[in-house]
Amino acid sequence: MDFNQGLPQIDLPTDMIHLGLGQPSSHLLPLNEMEKAAAHSLSTENGSFLAYGKEQGNVNFRQTLADFLTGEYSSPVGPEHLFITNGNSQALDYICKLFTRPGDTVIVEEPSYFLALKIFADHKLNLVSIPVDDNGMVIEDLKERLKSATPAFLYTIPAYHNPASVTLSLKRREELVRICAQKNLLLVADEVYQLLNYTQDSLPPMGTWNTGCPLISLGSFSKILAPGLRLGWIHTRVKLIKKLIIPALLLSGGGLNPFTSEVINSAICLGFLKSHIQKLKIVYRQRIEIFCDHLREYLPDQAVFKIPEGGYFIWVKFPDDVDTNTFREAARKQNVDFHPGSLFSHRKELKNYMRLSFAFYDDKILAEGALRLGKVVSNQLTMRHG
Ligand SMILES: Cc1ncc(COP(=O)(O)O)c(C=O)c1O
Repeated sequence: MDFNQGLPQIDLPTDMIHLGLGQPSSHLLPLNEMEKAAAHSLSTENGSFLAYGKEQGNVNFRQTLADFLTGEYSSPVGPEHLFITNGNSQALDYICKLFTRPGDTVIVEEPSYFLALKIFADHKLNLVSIPVDDNGMVIEDLKERLKSATPAFLYTIPAYHNPASVTLSLKRREELVRICAQKNLLLVADEVYQLLNYTQDSLPPMGTWNTGCPLISLGSFSKILAPGLRLGWIHTRVKLIKKLIIPALLLSGGGLNPFTSEVINSAICLGFLKSHIQKLKIVYRQRIEIFCDHLREYLPDQAVFKIPEGGYFIWVKFPDDVDTNTFREAARKQNVDFHPGSLFSHRKELKNYMRLSFAFYDDKILAEGALRLGKVVSNQLTMRHG
């Protein structure tokens, strides 16, 4: 059986269930909607989106996106506060290019998104990490670290964290923006999972916080529509937008992705984005229920995890002396894999964790994956004590 159809960029054996993968299943990619949205955009008399675009991003699209976000966030977002990107990875790279020099310090969470850590490493930045608990970044530790560090910016994933699946509490958000305002420290909030909440309440995104704190919020269509679009947005104050549009990259090439922006403009106007997000929430909620039930059944009691309230991930904790890297060889032999915790720490700590995701596989495969993983982990833990 081919469990891994539609994964052009990763070569996996067909019968491997890689529970670490954080991307949507191929059948959740909205091909038909995109076909209709593209036809809608291309049927217009005005093909200005085929010209070089405005530096800040396609004008129609920014207005439509601003209206959409105003509805989703229940808080006003203006098109003048949006800068169009090629997704959050590109936005992070761009922020490093604009606001850092090699050797600068950046504050990150531990754990943090492993490829963001790699982007920061590409820019030769010096990382200082702050632990994350059930309420997100531990602000007391941040205060302590800021006594000696003068970072170029602070990177946080406030909602439905990758990989820890936690959300920064309201109290900590207030403290964080207060501290950053006081220190004039640029706060980069990666809010890629903000709109994927599976419970009733979600906290307002950091992007809507109107404070004196220099704050950049990153949003992306990768998790709510399709990663191949390479489309996202920065939501920030006009003062910071002015800095974002300076680079010659934009003077030469124009704003990023004007064509795709127009197609997504149509997708939003035709109601596809809203209905797709609703569909994803139904599918992911059900997967979480089934996957977590099976994990509880098959993983030994020493494996502890919380049921995710949003996002893509389950962060499993094992006893302190476990190194999940040592499980991988045995796991791969049983055709199951995961992301070991140390991947999410720039210091290669957190060895006693693993990241699992329910985004890529459907219910049946997740259940089979949980069974395979449970057997491997139980064996490995028994051998350890045996
Ligand atoms: C926290 C976080 N930031 C950024 C990305 C990548 O986003 P994009 O596809 O918009 O570059 C991901 C994808 O897994 C992520 O989890």
